[in-house]
Formats: sequence, C-alpha cells, structure tokens
Amino acid sequence: MVMKILGVETSCDETGIAIYCEEEGIIANRVYSQIRLHQKYGGVIPELASRDHIRKTLPLIQEVLEENAIKRNEISAIAYTAGPGLVGALLVGASVAKSLALAWGIPSLGIHHMEGHLLATLLTKDPPAYPFIALLISGGHTQLIACYRNHRYQLLGESQDDAAGEAFDKVAKMLGLAYPGGPEIEKLAKKGDSERFYFPRPMTRKPGLDFSFSGLKTAVMNEVKSLEKIRPQDAEDLAAGFQKAALDTIKIKCERALDYTGLKRLVIAGGVSANMALRENLERTALEKEFKIYYPPLDLCTDNGAMIAFAGYQRLKSGQKEDLTIKVKARWPLADESI
Ligand code: KG4
Ligand code: ZN
Repeated sequence: MVMKILGVETSCDETGIAIYCEEEGIIANRVYSQIRLHQKYGGVIPELASRDHIRKTLPLIQEVLEENAIKRNEISAIAYTAGPGLVGALLVGASVAKSLALAWGIPSLGIHHMEGHLLATLLTKDPPAYPFIALLISGGHTQLIACYRNHRYQLLGESQDDAAGEAFDKVAKMLGLAYPGGPEIEKLAKKGDSERFYFPRPMTRKPGLDFSFSGLKTAVMNEVKSLEKIRPQDAEDLAAGFQKAALDTIKIKCERALDYTGLKRLVIAGGVSANMALRENLERTALEKEFKIYYPPLDLCTDNGAMIAFAGYQRLKSGQKEDLTIKVKARWPLADESI
C-alpha cells in the first residue's frame, strides 16, 4: 500500500493538519492560524493557544480526510510535533495523534519541530543534497547546524538570548505594529531609510557562530525612547535600520559557518526565512562567494502540518518507533536527534 502520513502541528499558535503521500508528495495542507485570538495581547498566550488547539485539531483532521476523500485505513502513521514549543499546546497534538493512532492501529511518531522546518526544504523541485549548513530562524530559534546526512546534525552556533523572529516581534510591538511582527517590520522597512539610525551587529566582531539579538532590540528601544513622538517616517526608518542590522548579522554568521566547514550549500528555514530582504541579502553574497541557497516552498516557511507529515515519513522509513506514553518537550536540542 502507498504510504500516507497524517501530520499534526500544534506547537504554538497554528493548528496545522496535512497529509504526505510517498508517491504524490503533500496532498493536503490546512493551517488554522490563531493570530486573531492573540493579536490583542501583542503575543501568544499559552493557555488560550492550548484551548483553541483542543477546539480545532479533531474537526480539522476530519475535514482534511473528507475533502480529499481519504479513508482512515489509508493512513499509515500519524506524525505530531513533540517539541520544542508550548507544553500545553504540544500536549493537545500529541494526545490527539496518539489516541487516533491507538484507535486506528497504526504507529505514531513524535517529531522535532525544527527538523520539520529543516526537512521542508526537501519538498522543493530542486532539493539540496547533503552535506549542507542549515540556518534555522523562527520565533523560538536561531541556530546554525551542519547537516551531514539524514538525521545527523551538529549544532555550530545559536542565539544566546532572543531568537531572530522574537526580536522582530518585540521591535514591532515597540513600533505599535500587529503580531506577528516579522512581516509587519518587513513591509515598513521597504519604505524606510536603513542608514538614518545605526544599530549594532551583535557578536560579529568576535569569532564564533553564536548569535545575540537582545542588545540590538535594546538599541532600538533606546532610540524609540529618545524620540518624543514616533512619526510614520520614524517608524519606517527604525524598522529599516533594525532589519538591516539583524540581516547583516545573520549574513555574516552564515558566511562564517560556510567558511568554517568548507560547505557550499546553505538551507534557510523557519518563519523568518519568509523575509524577502533576507533572501536578497544572502543571494548577493552567495553569488560573490559561490555557494547555493535553498529554501522551503514559501507557504511552508511558517508553521504547518506538511513539514511534520514529511518529517514523520522520513523517521518512519529510518525505523523510529514509540509506545503510547505521551511525552512532549518544551526545550529540545535538535543535535540530540542525531542517529
Ligand atoms: O516558524 P514560525 O512560524 O514559528 C515558530 O516556530 O516560531 O516562525 C514565526 C516567526 C515569528 O517571530 C514571525 O514574526 C517571524 O517568524 N516571521 C518573519 C516573517 N514572517 C514570519 N520575520 C521576518 N520577516 C518575515 N517576513
Ligand atoms: Zn516554527
């Protein structure tokens, strides 16, 4: 029978349900975003996220199966996000996935959310061959990882404080923009002058592959406080200056990781990889330095169930097995997943 994997993503504020088919690829991908629920608070409220996942997960699974005329007995396994993320939110996806797996008599597979983001890049027409460097940039992570082969990861560097996406979100909040802040900053930055304010490129003078974004965020905060009133032009220039500093920092570290390992392929995944200015900035360097960049399909950059279904397929093929104990992890280094 052709394998079909159901993917369930509930690690933060998106309920993502998808089906990966080993012959046809992603055949269903539905994302229900809770953004409107959290927007008035300027960030994700974990308890509200869990309650909404409870409301949405099962009906979405039912809809996805019905819309695609897929019967339960065609599903070979259920992959769910087991971490890292909000524990309550993760528990909803894990409980639903394990219960269905028990009822349908099929295996369940706990997937590392960042491995999902990373492997989504293999769903393009021109996927990267191993080995490559992966830059994983989301709301919770900023990591540089050397990937040698399937499931074999070495952490090269990571943020010592805020993740890149988190810094975008916090700066957006300072400027009175809506959550999530990344796309809003990107839009505003297009109209601004990135040279008017100069912000630091943290940890780029010292050697090493770690990141830090909290000082950059504070530098923006100090400028915001020093201005009596933020006029539209000020907000545009602050957004442009901040985005330029963050993207320059990311570019310098990526170049460094490629030089350090001698690798010539760079995969960029996670929510911030949807940022077009980041892509343009890195593409210029790639041309100069003769390396190639790979991204997940644009609709699979931010959280979704398709990446979890696909990672589940890969894990099933490599023999991952688990019992029915429900285990999720708020923190979970991806390097621990090397096998
Ligand atoms: O991967 P993701 O959907 O969820 C996590 O796993 O965290 O990433 C969400 C993060 C948020 O911080 C959001 O502001 C950021 O990705 N993001 C962006 C853009 N689109 C999403 N940051 C910068 N530019 C964007 N276009
Ligand atoms: Zn994510």
